Amino acid sequence: MDELPALQTTLLTAIAAAGDEAALEALRIAALGKKGSVSALLATLGKMSPDERKVQGAAINALKDIVSAALVTRKSELAEKTLTVRLISETIDITLPVRPSGLESGRIHPITQVIDELTAIFHDMGFAVADGPDIETDEYNFTMLNFPPGHPAREMHDTFFMPAKPDGTRHVLRTHTSPVQIRTMLTHKPPIRVIIPGRTYRCDSDQTHTPMFHQVEGLVIDKSSHMGHLKWVLEEFCKAFFEVNDVKMRFRPSHFPFTEPSMEVDIQCRRTGDDIRFGEGEDWLEILGCGMVHPNVIRNCGLDPDIYQGFAWGLGIDRIAMLKYGMPDLRAFFDADQRWIDHYGFRPLDLPSLVAGLSG
Ligand code: DAH
Repeated sequence: MDELPALQTTLLTAIAAAGDEAALEALRIAALGKKGSVSALLATLGKMSPDERKVQGAAINALKDIVSAALVTRKSELAEKTLTVRLISETIDITLPVRPSGLESGRIHPITQVIDELTAIFHDMGFAVADGPDIETDEYNFTMLNFPPGHPAREMHDTFFMPAKPDGTRHVLRTHTSPVQIRTMLTHKPPIRVIIPGRTYRCDSDQTHTPMFHQVEGLVIDKSSHMGHLKWVLEEFCKAFFEVNDVKMRFRPSHFPFTEPSMEVDIQCRRTGDDIRFGEGEDWLEILGCGMVHPNVIRNCGLDPDIYQGFAWGLGIDRIAMLKYGMPDLRAFFDADQRWIDHYGFRPLDLPSLVAGLSG
């Protein structure tokens, strides 16, 4: 059995030189497999005398253990080597910008963004969203809102009229979101707390007017809501929307047929050149109309104005979007110019919320 040390050297050298896991496996089979060189030695034990077997058996088993251990060590060395090679070949250059996915490359229009912002703010105050059609009856757009036929306020709306029907009635493109106040009061029992964002139309076009524009209407009807609540709601809204801690507001007397008393609201700001900041400064900017809902309007909707009361407001969405995001020309909103939307649009997955931040 003098060949043991030589066999050990041969096997260990071969194992150390094995270049990959397949070569190592072949060596394992050639040494420890059923017909392997070490197994062959073990088979010779049967022919030995007991004393000889004791000595040789121990020596062969020791060789077997040494070879097994060498195989295990080499196997893990090879695995580590493979991993290192893989890691080197698969490195990612994290300094490269991430290529945006298709989903990320689209943009949300600022109007949609601002409507989402308004909805988040008013939702937090307990308002639901209501809507109505863009093509409205003259009745809902004017008459039920306490604009009597022939009333001069009708003329001030630059209305787009549809051709009259044989019975003399005619539809209009709604000139404001206020008709949805009527629709809501006709179909819902107080307490009512809704906002109504939507498209509105007037025959007008310049830097701050487009024939189609957007308003958000607010309506609260119950038995006890008063002007103090109206002021609180509007102030909280302005602070949240313009993302400032404090804002002064000025309520000026005004006139709308559907509210009594009626007010226009200015918000405190500072103008420097084209720049405008809210919540500071000495300048005032008109942002909305509001008032206590006129008893006639409440009555027109089948409710008793001696029991029910409430307030409403109407605000130009395009205008507050321009103010908040510094867009100078309203007409560009509706030009469908890719460069404009790439610049002023919002990332699709940044949904506005009061928790995560409105404008990101
Ligand atoms: N509908 C008015 C307009 O478009 C805005 C308005 C003013 C709405 C006062 C209201 C309100 O609800 O109370 O000019």
